[in-house]
Amino acid sequence: MTHTLAAFSRQVHDILLADPGPLGRERVRTLLEDVVKDQRFADEHLGDDQPQRRLLYQDPDLGFAILGHVFHEARRTQPHDHGSSWAIYGQVAGETTMDGWEIVEPATEATPGKVRLHDSSTLTPGTARVYNEREIHSPRREGAAKLIRIEGNPNQAGPRIVWEPA
Ligand SMILES: [Fe+2]
Repeated sequence: MTHTLAAFSRQVHDILLADPGPLGRERVRTLLEDVVKDQRFADEHLGDDQPQRRLLYQDPDLGFAILGHVFHEARRTQPHDHGSSWAIYGQVAGETTMDGWEIVEPATEATPGKVRLHDSSTLTPGTARVYNEREIHSPRREGAAKLIRIEGNPNQAGPRIVWEPA
């Protein structure tokens, strides 16, 4: 099935309007798995010459954002959460290994919080995964990759919180 950004963003809007909780997000994840398999959508919105992070759409009503990511080389990110926002990662090309972390020591004003590795899973092309509020995660890539990511409400979530492996 082919998708357009306009139709995709309207579908995400309608799903989240009906159910903004985890069940609605699961339905968005299923839809995103279909979109990331659409080569024409990828060619249009995730070209090789595009920046690493590009805002494709932000919903004026519900606040969610659809982002396109084009990574040209291997990259590791520190464990982090997105405060009170959630995120859905959909893999278009390449692979992303996602580490999930649990809290060992909460952050204080002076020191970052400490976390311990909890699980790892690999996102392959055509798959998507939901991270709910305050789930600590860190993506890593051994080579080039393309993703579409949906953020729940980036404007109200506050800053991204970074953690340190214990
Ligand atoms: Fe993240």
